[in-house]
Amino acid sequence: MRRRVFAANWKMNLVPDEARTLAGEIRRRLDADAGNSAGDREVIIAPAFVALAAVAEAIAQSRIALAAQNMHYAERGAFTGEVSAPMLAAVGVTHVILGHSERRHILGESEDFISRKVEAAIAHRLVPILCVGETREEHDAGRAVEVILRQLHYGFSRLEAGPAARVVIAYEPVWAIGTGRNATPGQAQQAHGAIRASLRDRFGAETAAAVRIIYGGSVNPGNIEALMAQRDVDGVLVGGASLEAESFVRIARAGDNL
Ligand code: 13P
Repeated sequence: MRRRVFAANWKMNLVPDEARTLAGEIRRRLDADAGNSAGDREVIIAPAFVALAAVAEAIAQSRIALAAQNMHYAERGAFTGEVSAPMLAAVGVTHVILGHSERRHILGESEDFISRKVEAAIAHRLVPILCVGETREEHDAGRAVEVILRQLHYGFSRLEAGPAARVVIAYEPVWAIGTGRNATPGQAQQAHGAIRASLRDRFGAETAAAVRIIYGGSVNPGNIEALMAQRDVDGVLVGGASLEAESFVRIARAGDNL
């Protein structure tokens, strides 16, 4: 069975003290659940780089994992302003969000750049959370699946089947991010199903069955259950609703009722 993933992407919010406090609150609430079904889900928090160390302290010896929101593919060198996989690992990071639409569309990251990062994350034993998703225009033009599968193709272009199974894919339709307008559970399932079928063609049934495919885009406590009820929705990547302990914990618990 695929372990469900509930990931908080705090984006460019919260200074270290604020991040420490919120991570601590989330931890306390989830610790109280331990012994229930906490073991079959993975809860991940992705703060800004400067808050990684503070959050690492707040979640030490808990079940919560620490993610970065980006990284460079090189190990070190003259890349002003960048952060490498070994640097992240050294502060306790185990997962890294790569290819988020805000980086693709606002900061101009290319498919090649993203695929190198995925390769480097795997090489350094970080779990990449590779984001894919179509824009509003692409969606309206009926090109969603084509766009998603192209991003997937490039994102996995430097991986063999073994390491590919470790990647978490986040389907985040750009038109649903921060808009309060989530994809319907049916739309999410359609995209996730297409992603899994494509993984099957490329890497075989075993790898396709192992990869977690999570949904992101206006996830909240009110829509989580319906999303999680879809066959190929293995979790969620949450932006706005993860900035409040109560709403994120309600999201992270929701799958328990399945
Ligand atoms: P929202 O949950 O705020 O729509 O953001 C989704 C997202 O981009 C998570 O990476």
